[in-house]
Amino acid sequence: MAKRVLSGQRPTGRLHLGHLHGTLNQWVELQEKYDTYFFVADWHALTTAYDDVSAIKQDTTDMVIDWLAVGIDPDKSIIYRQSDLGETAELAQYLSILTPLGWLERNPTYKEQLREIKGKEITTHGFLGYPILQTADIAIVHGEIVPVGEDQLPHLELAREIVRRFNSYYGKTFAEPQAKLTKAPKVYGVDGRKMSKSYSNAIYLSDEPDVIRKKISQMITDPQRKRRVDPGDPNACTVFDLHLIYSKDLNIIKKECREALRGCVECKEELAERVVESLKDFQDRRNSFVENPLLAKEVLERGAEIVKPIAENTLHEVRKKLNLD
Ligand code: TRP
Ligand code: SF4
Repeated sequence: MAKRVLSGQRPTGRLHLGHLHGTLNQWVELQEKYDTYFFVADWHALTTAYDDVSAIKQDTTDMVIDWLAVGIDPDKSIIYRQSDLGETAELAQYLSILTPLGWLERNPTYKEQLREIKGKEITTHGFLGYPILQTADIAIVHGEIVPVGEDQLPHLELAREIVRRFNSYYGKTFAEPQAKLTKAPKVYGVDGRKMSKSYSNAIYLSDEPDVIRKKISQMITDPQRKRRVDPGDPNACTVFDLHLIYSKDLNIIKKECREALRGCVECKEELAERVVESLKDFQDRRNSFVENPLLAKEVLERGAEIVKPIAENTLHEVRKKLNLD
């Protein structure tokens, strides 16, 4: 039987090129070979957004529409929403009673977020327990392979430890989930920082062609190249990082850049046309989906129906082991 792959994404609204090349393309491939589960991690989103919940519903819809338009296929993958699967919370409860606080406090992602997220109280029980909930997400459907970015590796390590501890007390119940590292090319935003919604520097998959052209025209190039006649260094240029994804004539671009035979303006224009072209089919599909506001809702409802009995089964097994049934 095909192995079970599971991954989740916090609903951040419309997706951008960083998501596409970091995560989504891989998900689309995985669904051909594996038994795939993809879910909207809305509870996880709330651990850092509990003070303003106004956007979460629309963000969920926007994200699911993007998933569908990219090619995540409800006939090949089970697509659902975390908050529709209350069973996960019950499992998280059982996992939380056996997870030592020290494991959670040592989690590097937690420590980093504490440093980075300013002006908000996130030293909450829920935020500290983020990896427990994530473990429950995986274990509730007996996920075996978890495609994630590098930033999630500490969470996956914790998930293995928590599952191991559960198994050691109550007998082998869960497989230790394996992380499958996403081969993510570097995708920088318009300002030269990592592309991210929170930096307002992202090129969205659903941006109109002219918006994409404008954003690319504003991208940071080799900072040493001040004038058109100066030679450039493609390796120091975030525009070139996108050419690596979108262009085939890389040697020509490199040579022309280094010899100042091409200007940054034309280099960006060329890139922009390739990005626009490559997103065309996606955008056509997305536009047709947007006309049906119920689509995302229906997909999530159908996914929840399929995943619910699987989760109930797991809980049944777990309750028996805990001598509750
Ligand atoms: N924490 C993940 C992220 O921020 C999202 C997530 C939640 C997840 N639960 C998961 C990923 C379970 C994989 C498996 O990207
Ligand atoms: Fe970057 Fe292209 Fe300008 Fe070279 S010519 S610095 S690769 S934008």
